[in-house]
Amino acid sequence: MTRADSTRDTAAPQRRDFPPDFRWGCATASYQVEGAAHADGKGESIWDRFCTQPGAIRDGSSGAVACDHFHRWPQDLDLARDLGVNAYRFSVAWPRIFPAGRGAAPNAAGLDFYSRLVDGLLERGIEPWLTLYHWDLPQPLQDAGGWAARATLDAFAAYVDAVTRRLGDRVKRWITQNEPWCVAMLGHHEGVHAPGRRDLATALQVAHHVLLSHGQALPIIRANVPDALAGITLSLHPIAPAGPGAADAAAAFRHDGLRNRWFLDPLHGRGYPADVWQRLGALAPTVLPGDLEAIARPTDFLGINYYFPEHVADAPGHGVLEARVVEPGAEVERTGFGWEVAPDGLVRLLDRVQRDYRPAPIVLTENGATYDDVVTPDGRIHDAERQRYLQRHVAAAREVLARGIALQGYFAWSLLDNFEWAEGYLRRFGLIHVDYATQQRTLKDSGLWYRDFLRA
Ligand code: FCB
Repeated sequence: MTRADSTRDTAAPQRRDFPPDFRWGCATASYQVEGAAHADGKGESIWDRFCTQPGAIRDGSSGAVACDHFHRWPQDLDLARDLGVNAYRFSVAWPRIFPAGRGAAPNAAGLDFYSRLVDGLLERGIEPWLTLYHWDLPQPLQDAGGWAARATLDAFAAYVDAVTRRLGDRVKRWITQNEPWCVAMLGHHEGVHAPGRRDLATALQVAHHVLLSHGQALPIIRANVPDALAGITLSLHPIAPAGPGAADAAAAFRHDGLRNRWFLDPLHGRGYPADVWQRLGALAPTVLPGDLEAIARPTDFLGINYYFPEHVADAPGHGVLEARVVEPGAEVERTGFGWEVAPDGLVRLLDRVQRDYRPAPIVLTENGATYDDVVTPDGRIHDAERQRYLQRHVAAAREVLARGIALQGYFAWSLLDNFEWAEGYLRRFGLIHVDYATQQRTLKDSGLWYRDFLRA
């Protein structure tokens, strides 16, 4: 038993502990589940391209087939309905709508696919939550500079216009961008995600344009879908100093500046954090007049993806922030990814966001864990650790509500095992197991738990 394993933490949560209109869902993303890389006129995305680079994906795979959800979605939505979710978060693949990234008219077959998917959800009594960008930029736009180029913003606006016009009669929940930190930093600074760049100045320009694309999308969504609720999803982490001294505390603050405040501050009308901006010097992004006003346009909810906390030590000379994330020790409980399991971190994070920003209502748009699941000879999938992870985080969500924070929904990541980006198929996050050789789906014990929790 670890420190976090307090009674409060583990007292089995019940659905009735939450408001009746609380959204209970599962999340997926287009490139991770759809496959059908060339179907119905789809264009190449930066992930299609990135996966062809030797060594980019740990198991040498790609999302070309993935869960074949593009063809199997009716069965997958049946499974979601059987779980009892009342909401489902998915993303639209931009290259299905504009294969070249932009164009005179959208690809009708691409829009038709999502139209059928949305109808399928509504027929099953599940509310669609649509993410407009979950990382699969059309490759031709990347060839023209990608998110680092301001011209990509016009292409995004035209894409948002096309999708909202076609689906806005039925889709009322819109997420503009998923995890701008990952797009910017993993894709353009660390180079471990598409498009695989390693340049901090580029990454920071990308972060600014991704935030701006969110701000510019909002009036388009509102014009085409007057009753829409719209927001952005951020990956946020509670951050603590690794040690007791003042130096680590200062380092934790600096690290928080780029990890969390760099996104939360401008979205809440404060511009970019001055302490980080100063350290960046010439690396700081170009921000044009009006950009910050657009980024700060009001939203209806703040999407937060919560996975793990970080501990930070002072590290003179280490990067512009001179701070270093310290790996948790062996005594700390971790997932298969090595991510610290800390349901109490969720409470700390949302407390902090509420206190410092007074945001729009919060929706947990992702939370979940990867483990090495045990498949027994009778074909069952025992994933006791994931089940406990979910249960403890749902209990933490209850604690968040008890503190008076307006939390409106919880989406488990993920409905299905799927293509986990640079890790390929080595990491399974699903409540439903996917046998990639046969595409057979099997409900895991964690999925059974979620179903029983939702039905009770
Ligand atoms: C998040 C991503 C999601 C998934 C989970 C595990 O950062 O948004 O697509 O890969 O991590």
